[in-house]
Amino acid sequence: MQIIKTVAEARTWRAAKPRVALVPTMGNLHAGHLSLVAAARKIADHVVVSIFVNPLQFGPNEDLANYPRTFEADVAALEHAGVDAVFAPGVEEMYPAGGASATTVHVAGITEMLCGTSRPGHFDGVATVVTKLFNILTPDSALFGEKDYQQLAVVRRMAADLALPVVVEGGPTVREADGLAYSSRNAYLTPDERRRAVALSAAIDDVCARLAAGQQDFRSLEARGWAQLSDAGFDPDYFDIRDTDLAPATRQTTAFRVLAAGRLGRTRLIDNKGISRD
Ligand code: PAF
Repeated sequence: MQIIKTVAEARTWRAAKPRVALVPTMGNLHAGHLSLVAAARKIADHVVVSIFVNPLQFGPNEDLANYPRTFEADVAALEHAGVDAVFAPGVEEMYPAGGASATTVHVAGITEMLCGTSRPGHFDGVATVVTKLFNILTPDSALFGEKDYQQLAVVRRMAADLALPVVVEGGPTVREADGLAYSSRNAYLTPDERRRAVALSAAIDDVCARLAAGQQDFRSLEARGWAQLSDAGFDPDYFDIRDTDLAPATRQTTAFRVLAAGRLGRTRLIDNKGISRD
């Protein structure tokens, strides 16, 4: 497995490879990332995983400095998973003009709701770095976890709007035994918070079951989910029932996405699930 640190090396590695799949990550890899790698191996001849903690997508009071960095363990896991190359540039390689980028990518509308409301600028940072990774590695396909459902929707919309020559694929959320979605940020939870964190997926499951049973009062279902998070000690950010394009659900909606986010102590957790009914 080749470890690539520069844009020039990345371009050399990429040249003359027939089908390349990219799994973009910020490292601190877990079972969710590794499931994307396994899916990538099925659709491409060569798999490259990027590891880059992107400063552009962190707000001033967010966890950039403390974000877990576990490069050696990540490389060992990727080698074991059969990855062909790891692209792990430094900040100065990705943003040579300083810690930012004068040119950014903004996907209007879809970024101005849900996580975009409490994390202004976050999705511009994601869209910008993903565009840059696509330009550097020119993958045929790129895989993103459905756990970050809004991020996946933003990248899909960006790729469609800008006619980017890459197929964007989503991979299912991988969960721990009690239902908590794998996330690098789970590492911040104290043992007590970790026990209570299960309320996030449980509240979403509860609302999904009620939607499946035909309940239509979306506002009271959202309030119910919100209350379940509060009761478990979360400071909820949102609990929303949307359609699969993230528009608010209506009585005509048959395929729902239930999305929630909240803080448990100092840790912000997000999760979502889909439910369809005839
Ligand atoms: O989901 C992530 O880990 C990041 O947002 C991504 C897509 C790697 C961009 O930095």
